[in-house]
Amino acid sequence: MSFAYKIKTLLSFYKDSKTVYKIHSPFVFDFMKNVFDTSRRYYAFDHIEYLRENLKRDPRTIEFKDFGAKQKKDQNRRVRDIANSAVSPKNKCRWLFNTVHHFRPTTVIELGTSLGISSLYLASAESQITVLTHEGDPQSAGIAKENFDRLKMKNIELIIGRFEETFQNTLDRLNQLDLVYLDGNHSYEATLKYFNQCLPKITSKSILIFDDIYWSPGMTQAWNEIKKHPKVRLSLDLYQIAYVFFDPMIKEKQHFKLINSSYKFWQKYLP
Ligand SMILES: C[S@@+](CC[C@H](N)C(=O)[O-])C[C@H]1O[C@@H](n2cnc3c(N)ncnc32)[C@H](O)[C@@H]1O
Repeated sequence: MSFAYKIKTLLSFYKDSKTVYKIHSPFVFDFMKNVFDTSRRYYAFDHIEYLRENLKRDPRTIEFKDFGAKQKKDQNRRVRDIANSAVSPKNKCRWLFNTVHHFRPTTVIELGTSLGISSLYLASAESQITVLTHEGDPQSAGIAKENFDRLKMKNIELIIGRFEETFQNTLDRLNQLDLVYLDGNHSYEATLKYFNQCLPKITSKSILIFDDIYWSPGMTQAWNEIKKHPKVRLSLDLYQIAYVFFDPMIKEKQHFKLINSSYKFWQKYLP
């Protein structure tokens, strides 16, 4: 993301965003309380964050195969650099954890495992769910697998290969989609393609989460088109990630941009 684009999108985000006090929808208010509020701590967080700290100091170098939007040639990358740059930060991981905890999906699909940190948050929220996580780079996937084994995670299935080859197979295995987290290949074309691939398996309860919608003008354009799709009834934009919901009972289509810090500030005054 270019610095100028980040500033521009941040300013426009804050101008249009809403605090919990401006939210009248009970569903969105509930979302802010149970998903957006990251003040609750769970035992699992400490174990995962311990692994993240180890990764940030990991001296290994891997030969990284890049299938993402930048499509760089294979390159040697230090594990600690990946841990510092590509892995979701704590607050975003807690949103993912809270999403599973609150909405109780049966199956979660993740596109983009990297070193496995976000997969661990998703899977730790509920031991009964299955997380099907996808990664193209075999060596990143190998390190993710080490992390899953370290925490003895039994509910994560790691699928290695390009999304273009693996995602449709996973979709074909499922009757419906509960929760899909798209965090890889941040290009306009790929994002819309993955969204369209999901559509046939969408139900009124499905949730899709898109990462980095302000990473580039192309990603923002893809997000704007996704919001307009007739099946989408509600979108919640948290800037770092964004959610779409499909419940046809939501008669009037709504889009919200939500600010976290304001909720955190005000929550102590709420009943
Ligand atoms: C931003 S990282 C994922 C971070 C991870 N979800 C986390 O928060 O810890 C994106 C990952 O997607 C993978 N990826 C990107 N495009 C891909 C593609 N077309 N096929 C397979 N993997 C891909 C990259 O190798 C990278 O590891």
